[in-house]
Amino acid sequence: MPCLVTIGGFYGDEGKGKIIAYLATKDDYNVAARGGVGPNAGHTFVQNGKEYKVRMLPSAVVNKNTRLLIGAGVLVEPNILLKEIHEFNSVDRTFIDFQCGIIEPHHLETDKSDNHLKQTIGTTGTGTGPANADRSSRKLKLAKDLPEVSLFLEDVSNSINYSIDNKENVLIEGTQGTFLSLYHGMYPYVTSKDVTASAICSDVGVGPKKIDDVLIVFKSFVTRVGEGPLANEISIDEAREKNWLEFGSVTGRQRRAAPFDFNLAKKSIQINSATQIALTKLDIIFPQCKSIKDYSKLSNDAKKFVENIESETGIPVTIIGTGSETNDTIDRRKYVK
Ligand code: IMP
Ligand code: MG
Repeated sequence: MPCLVTIGGFYGDEGKGKIIAYLATKDDYNVAARGGVGPNAGHTFVQNGKEYKVRMLPSAVVNKNTRLLIGAGVLVEPNILLKEIHEFNSVDRTFIDFQCGIIEPHHLETDKSDNHLKQTIGTTGTGTGPANADRSSRKLKLAKDLPEVSLFLEDVSNSINYSIDNKENVLIEGTQGTFLSLYHGMYPYVTSKDVTASAICSDVGVGPKKIDDVLIVFKSFVTRVGEGPLANEISIDEAREKNWLEFGSVTGRQRRAAPFDFNLAKKSIQINSATQIALTKLDIIFPQCKSIKDYSKLSNDAKKFVENIESETGIPVTIIGTGSETNDTIDRRKYVK
């Protein structure tokens, strides 16, 4: 059984939550581990008409057989974690690493009041930047210091490596997007750590030789929230007309929009050593594709759009999202791999 990593290819909000919810339902992972920054990321998925959001748990929570891990590199906000564990009834299958950093109220206050963070960078205000600054100063509290989360503590790197070595089916979930990386993104308009595939694996304690596939998620157009450059940005009115207008799942802020960007796609495939693409929201670009589950039934323009991405990037588009419901998905893995 393979070990798969999912990564955001643009600026976050590519639709990773939906893709992971689909994979988790279809592939029945034994274990899913969340990497990335922390509760600044909100992953959304829709099942049977009901919308769910997770900011701490892996999105594979939709599969009740999957063990849910949060890696040592991830910041935990205890109130959000406990609320989600309760909401998804996952007390007996959620585990966080002893060494996850803890976000405290003063981190949130700083993130919301500091002029540089709030105005210049446009952070999500969820305390993650100030908490990571404390972590690098070695004064951040860790999960093992906090009685509220003691029930969920585990050596996550040991647990996930054990699963991989025993040929279990393992998913490692990235959050944010490649161009929000502290190292590879458009500094200073970035998040507070690296979020590319290598960093996500490091967050959960898995080394580079244990990964079989890196699935990079691109939306059919590009969006970004917060400040910083966005090539070929269109106006809000134009975005509304095209139905590209979105609002942030954590902050509710209006997202800026631009057409699919091949330069960014190629660079993020390189940085992440991506092997496959999941393309989301094809139905927003080609409305007649809505809810189609069979590739052969796509219109010719939609197929051309997909095939152009494959020929430009050199890797296959194996999963295509055609609607917000988890099963509004075309799965081409067995044909194109
Ligand atoms: P921070 O991560 O809250 O410090 O915010 C830094 C930048 O990253 C801001 O532009 C945020 O809007 C952006 N950002 C952080 N996490 C996400 C995410 O999950 N999706 C989209 N943008 C994000
Ligand atoms: Mg999001």
